[in-house]
Amino acid sequence: MRTAVVWDALEAALSGAPREVVDLGGGTGGFAVRLAESGHRVRVVDPSPDALASLARRAREADLDVSGLQGDVADLVDVVGAGSADVVLCHGVLEVVDPTLALDRISQVLRPGGLLSLVVGQRHASVITRAMAGHFQLARTLLDDPAPVDARTGRRFTAPEVTDLLAAAGFTDVAVHAVRVFADLVPAALVDHEPGAAAALVDLERAVAQRPEYLPLATQLHVLATRG
Ligand SMILES: C[S@@+](CC[C@H](N)C(=O)[O-])C[C@H]1O[C@@H](n2cnc3c(N)ncnc32)[C@H](O)[C@@H]1O
Repeated sequence: MRTAVVWDALEAALSGAPREVVDLGGGTGGFAVRLAESGHRVRVVDPSPDALASLARRAREADLDVSGLQGDVADLVDVVGAGSADVVLCHGVLEVVDPTLALDRISQVLRPGGLLSLVVGQRHASVITRAMAGHFQLARTLLDDPAPVDARTGRRFTAPEVTDLLAAAGFTDVAVHAVRVFADLVPAALVDHEPGAAAALVDLERAVAQRPEYLPLATQLHVLATRG
């Protein structure tokens, strides 16, 4: 439910020939293994040995070949090679690294015309979530401050901030989707116990994903962009 909108856009963009995919900060491989199942060649780069061990287990169980490489944003080019990727995934990572550095390294490993799939936390939804939980000072700080105010969750972005960062890094054809507009607001019991509710919620998320007026309400933004 939480990734349906991201998958829709990614699968449509990657239909056709198998691609060379690099999943930066791919963690335990939720996306990587599914892309490998679809026939793409996938390398996961992550600093966490525990995450890479889980990825290896997951890939083995699915009888798939997914490379797990220990590394981080700063040494991405050394780890995978310049111009070696058709597609780079960077999901849930830009929040905890220097975004300008990350986009520069991603741009270097993508071949010209290659695709970036980016998922980032969206700031306005974060402000509301914190306020609703009674963390008013934290909400107030996050309102104007794009830098991390919470070491656990890291930086949050607005849609214009992300598109500006991508333009500055030389990316073009930027498409932004709203992810998890409702999913985090609905009580889990309602979705779990009401027959048909989960499918109807996914349908609703899909219906608003490409409506710009819903971007400030989304927990996350999914962005597809092309390396110029
Ligand atoms: C929130 S998880 C996201 C995992 C996966 N991309 C997903 O969408 O399910 C963040 C991941 O970023 C990785 N990470 C943290 N610092 C990093 C860095 N400097 N460079 C690359 N990855 C990093 C973490 O180890 C973790 O696997």
